[in-house]
Amino acid sequence: MSERIYARISGTGHCLPERVMTNLDLEKLVDTSDQWIQERTGIKERRVVADDQTTCDLAEVASKRALEAAGLAPSDIDLLVVGTTTPDLVFPSTACLLQHRLGLGECGAFDVNAACSGFVYALSVADQFIRSGQAKHVLVVGAETLTRMLDWGDRQTCVLFGDGAGAAVLSADSAPGILSTHLHANGAHADLLKVDVGVSRGFKPDEPRAGISVSMRGNEVFKVAVNTLGRIVEETLEANGIDRSELDWLIPHQANLRIIKATAKKLDMSMDQVIVTVDKHGNTSAASVPLALDEAIRSGRVERGQLILLEAFGGGFTWASALLRY
Ligand code: UT7
Repeated sequence: MSERIYARISGTGHCLPERVMTNLDLEKLVDTSDQWIQERTGIKERRVVADDQTTCDLAEVASKRALEAAGLAPSDIDLLVVGTTTPDLVFPSTACLLQHRLGLGECGAFDVNAACSGFVYALSVADQFIRSGQAKHVLVVGAETLTRMLDWGDRQTCVLFGDGAGAAVLSADSAPGILSTHLHANGAHADLLKVDVGVSRGFKPDEPRAGISVSMRGNEVFKVAVNTLGRIVEETLEANGIDRSELDWLIPHQANLRIIKATAKKLDMSMDQVIVTVDKHGNTSAASVPLALDEAIRSGRVERGQLILLEAFGGGFTWASALLRY
């Protein structure tokens, strides 16, 4: 009988732009307050890209760090998957641009657009390729420059988002590894969270930045997010026949501290077992989970052998989870 193959995290990395934008900075732009933002979201500050910095620039640094941590050369990578909603260009994909920058060779490379669930979706793709024996080492990236799509006059959205990138190398191993991944989507909620322009539907030339800005019915998104994340964490535990008390860490999508706390409560986990970066990064969409993962690993909090639950929720709606042993 052939030995079972698992996808294990062999290295992680991250990149944050240098520019810090605090809640006090935002008070100068819109009618908001540090107190409101902290109470409603848990966000204190976020990072914002420089004018000449792109999603691929952030992804490149995060990827190099992940490769170094994994002790692998670019030529070892068999597949590259990038989760992003803010690609450098319509095409080529950010993955193709990144592949060239990193000198990966002619491996498969593509983007996944699942909004804030992009990294967990990409991780799931990587897991399938490794389990099936088609790839040995896969580079998975979540990278975003969300601030490029913000209307800095809209207080309902501009206080929420930030820029960054996180990366993980997954490698084939006989020991687990990713135990399961779960992907879901429901396009019926498309109108609650969206950027309402595009290549095919057209842009709005009379509006700033051709009308490219995030719009969200925050309160409604909040309720669906809490409910949906509650369901997917149950589904993940059940699929693996494990009890919530066996989890060592929850690494959630970082959109809102109140949503994170609701999921932790559902899992009966203390906030000491939850990785929180939303205070420093804001919502970085597809970059939020890998940023938090890398911080958890580099700070020494997450240790080899521990059981970790990743989850994410975003525009679409999309939602996804992964249970893994680090
Ligand atoms: O990552 C993808 C998924 N995204 C999410 O999961 C985000 C989910 N939603 C949320 O995190 C929250 O709904 C928000 C943080 C966006 C908003 O918090 P909320 O508690 O749902 O506030 P709200 O939208 O119900 O607004 C409450 C009040 C309103 O004023 P009135 O109508 O009560 O007078 C808003 O106009 O707060 C006002 N408000 C603000 N006040 C100060 C909205 N934005 C701001 C602001 N500063 N930035």
